[in-house]
Amino acid sequence: MRVVVLTGAGISAESGVPTFRDADGLWEGHRVEDVATPEAYESQPTMVQEFYDARRASLAHVEPNAAHVALARLEDVLGDDLFLVTQNIDDLHERGGSTRVHHMHGELRSALCRACERRFPWDRTLVDLPPCPGCGVTELRPDVVWFGEIPYDMDAIMHELKRADLFVSIGTSGAVYPAAGFVQYAARHRARTLELNLQPSEGTSFFHESRQGPAGTLVPLWVDEMLARVTP
Ligand code: APR
Repeated sequence: MRVVVLTGAGISAESGVPTFRDADGLWEGHRVEDVATPEAYESQPTMVQEFYDARRASLAHVEPNAAHVALARLEDVLGDDLFLVTQNIDDLHERGGSTRVHHMHGELRSALCRACERRFPWDRTLVDLPPCPGCGVTELRPDVVWFGEIPYDMDAIMHELKRADLFVSIGTSGAVYPAAGFVQYAARHRARTLELNLQPSEGTSFFHESRQGPAGTLVPLWVDEMLARVTP
């Protein structure tokens, strides 16, 4: 059975990473639209770099939760039949044990050089304009996909959605495209679709089945069900 899992900010909420659109809709006091755009970076590069530097540093204070760990357990059994795509820029899937994670919106622990366009693992700050390890130019930016930019890995993602038997969306509001459209695309190509989210999302009506509750509870239960079905 081929399974595509899409995750969003909700899967990391119980680890203490704030979501984007819950509560007052602010992310650490900033509207996401004010920092996550190329225009914001052009007009206020220091503010944007400091914002992502702080997010990157905060990863040191959070841990993967039961939902991340459960998905790693599923990968152990399904191997390449599981395609895990996340909108999250944190590294909690990897630290939970997943080894094949597609970060469609980029990664906090990565820097992108605007001069040579290469990507580098990055763990420190960018606001101080360090030179690119590849070309030496001081044009490193956060390797995150901003509004108006094209997400990573789209060809591979669409290919996997087309041949999936099951599409599962976890902890995402369904407010941001193209990810919000994956459920309809997968369903059109005959996948069964399941949503696991704290509350009904903007896309709930598109799913065959929707379960409401915290990811840390729902995801391990769903993984147990899957493993009972696929293991002899
Ligand atoms: N368990 C499951 N779901 C949860 C939990 C939880 N513990 N806590 C919150 N949620 C749900 C919320 O109900 C909401 O539907 O997670 C969803 C989070 O939605 P958003 O904050 O909009 O996050 P996401 O869908 O990942 O945002 C998509 O928007 O700005 C961007 O690039 C950013 O990747 C992000 C994209």
